[in-house]
Amino acid sequence: MSTNSDMPALFGQEYQDLRESVAALSAKKIAPHAQDVDEKSRYPQEAADALQSAGLAAAHVPTEFGGQGADALAAVIIIEEVARVCGSSSLIPAVNKLGSVPLMIAGNNEQKKKYLTQLASGKGFSYCLSESEAGSDAAAMKTKAVKEENDWILSGSKKWISNAGVSEFYTVLASTDPSKGAKGISAFIVEKSDTGVSFGAHEKKMGFRGSPTREVYFDNVKISDDRRLGEVGTGFSLAMKTLDHTRITIAAQALGIAQGAFDVAKKYSHERQQFGKPIFDFQAIQFMLADMAMQIEAARQLTYAAAVKSERGESDLTFFSAASKCFATDVAMKVTTDAVQILGGYGYVSDYPVERMMRDAKLTQIYEGTNQIQRIVMARNLDNLSI
Ligand code: CAA
Repeated sequence: MSTNSDMPALFGQEYQDLRESVAALSAKKIAPHAQDVDEKSRYPQEAADALQSAGLAAAHVPTEFGGQGADALAAVIIIEEVARVCGSSSLIPAVNKLGSVPLMIAGNNEQKKKYLTQLASGKGFSYCLSESEAGSDAAAMKTKAVKEENDWILSGSKKWISNAGVSEFYTVLASTDPSKGAKGISAFIVEKSDTGVSFGAHEKKMGFRGSPTREVYFDNVKISDDRRLGEVGTGFSLAMKTLDHTRITIAAQALGIAQGAFDVAKKYSHERQQFGKPIFDFQAIQFMLADMAMQIEAARQLTYAAAVKSERGESDLTFFSAASKCFATDVAMKVTTDAVQILGGYGYVSDYPVERMMRDAKLTQIYEGTNQIQRIVMARNLDNLSI
């Protein structure tokens, strides 16, 4: 049984075709390296190359800038199918989208032409919001941008930056008027080659070990005003609007990880014999698998609904985006943990990928806003629900 067999039919053949082609590419070019990437904590270069050649590393970039013009649902399906075999690799399209959505929302045409075309050609784009003392409380950031004639001087540092050092471009949120709190924050594009930009050591993580996570330091980085995204003081709102669109990609990632773990556990349950029969024949295992499939499918429906709302810019997007991220990532944690349980001792060692998937699932409950923050966001948006 595939829990996702009927879903794309609801949305049209093109999504089914996309899913099949990404699944085939993932199986052939990404899955064979996933364990090595995790064990060596190395960047998944094979996946990066394969995704780039297939136009999937930043498929959301509009066609006029050299991308595929993939809509939000297509982007979700791409990330889901890559995450099904390798979480770290699925962060390539996810981070590229996160880094560039502020540009797509607030950039002018020149900025879009300059940066989106380079993104489509393979140069990565990361997102710099969090700091060591400003995680959930993102508006408490200390990184500053001070205006000097027609330039800005950036100083400070950003923490937990996915694909830092690999990406060529960085959307950086910085305080341009600390007296105004969230309303004194502005957004800028910083390039890796800008003088004064440097990177910290690689974090040693529980999961997602193939995706580099590093600090980014800004030592009086001088950039011209044409690097500013949107009006001065609108950066925090832009950062939040961005997350409304991209938390759905984390839901997609969680969904893929959960589906990947379910696939392994189901297959194993038919192969593994105990007490003279496959363990699938025991109701204890059947009920676990039934619950896993039910939870995955519920997460899929919510994630796809959120993606459609993202594409249409519907007024309850903020709720749906937070809900899909929170629900799908909690499902991923539960499903991957149960997959390890079904495999028993074999699940706890790296002969099978489920222990990696369980470690990867944990991060999805934490980044792009912890699931506690998602519940705050949902609670603040209860009156915006359209039903
Ligand atoms: N859209 C537009 N504007 C929004 C908004 C949204 N969804 N949410 C908030 N704003 C605006 C508000 O309207 C407000 O402006 P006004 O006063 O004019 O109304 C302003 O932003 C401040 O909003 P809040 O008062 O709600 O701000 P807050 O300080 O209470 O914080 C928060 C809200 C939801 C807790 C927010 O800080 C948050 O989301 N924190 C989590 C941060 C986060 O998700 N970090 C993830 C980092 S990225 C990452 O993890 C990527 C990776 O590695 C892959």
